[in-house]
Amino acid sequence: MSTTFQLDTSTSRANPTPQPMKRLTVPKIRAHKKGGTVEQPLVMLTAYTARQAQLLDAHCDILLVGDSLGQVIYGLPSTIPVTMEMMANHAAAVVRGSYHAVVVVDMPFGSYEASKEQAFESAAYLLKQSGAAAVKLEGGAQMAETVAFLNQRGIPVMGHVGLTPQAVNVLGGYMARGRSEAEAEKIVSDARALDEAGTFAIVIEGVVEPIAIETTKAVSCPTIGIGASAQCDGQVLVTEDMLGMFERVPRFVKKYAAIGDVIEKTVAQYAEEVRSRSFPGPDQTYQPIS
Ligand code: KIV
Repeated sequence: MSTTFQLDTSTSRANPTPQPMKRLTVPKIRAHKKGGTVEQPLVMLTAYTARQAQLLDAHCDILLVGDSLGQVIYGLPSTIPVTMEMMANHAAAVVRGSYHAVVVVDMPFGSYEASKEQAFESAAYLLKQSGAAAVKLEGGAQMAETVAFLNQRGIPVMGHVGLTPQAVNVLGGYMARGRSEAEAEKIVSDARALDEAGTFAIVIEGVVEPIAIETTKAVSCPTIGIGASAQCDGQVLVTEDMLGMFERVPRFVKKYAAIGDVIEKTVAQYAEEVRSRSFPGPDQTYQPIS
């Protein structure tokens, strides 16, 4: 589907033409999995800006304002320094740029782990500031009480198990999880605990395939895989990774394009034309009316 945008100058909102379908809801995403299976896998991508959201929206069920924006947008070494303000501002931009997908915003490190009350305050702030529909938080059974607390107070929660990047200092790196029996059992039981607590979906990241499949079978809500398995109930990637914005990406990323190369070549041509005074040309300059 091809969508064009017209800027409403009174609100600065870019209105799509044709008007896309109604926005999906969290209950609809949850209800996608029936009798332990989905008819069609859910499509999720990260989005951090309004224009990016406009381009992705019609094709995705869920847009995730991931705390991966710390590395992708801000050049930070990990997701640990990401702040609430960063998440709220980018999530608001993504909501403004989308009409169809459910927008989920990551809770940044340190904003939810101390208590369920802290988590409620942070999640409520993120949803109020941005208009997003749900939050995502990392962790397993230890977060189940928090998930239930938020859910009972009107805040839908997406879980995240396996490789949880906010725990990088405990895990010691970003390697795949679930290789030992103990680790595999913990991933499955963590996902079960989150599911029972009411998560509407669970991201399974960087987990060996058989354990990703076992986890998907073990829970009633949809699982969204990243570096997991095609048998998960949906897939997510960091958009900049799959577009080929970076030279180095994790092994599980498929580069669908080489946008980084396109940008470099385009900017090189612009620089050459500026230096040779061939830009701006007659089409880009104003002349007095004769
Ligand atoms: O922050 C993020 O982008 C994520 C996805 C990789 C699932 O959590």
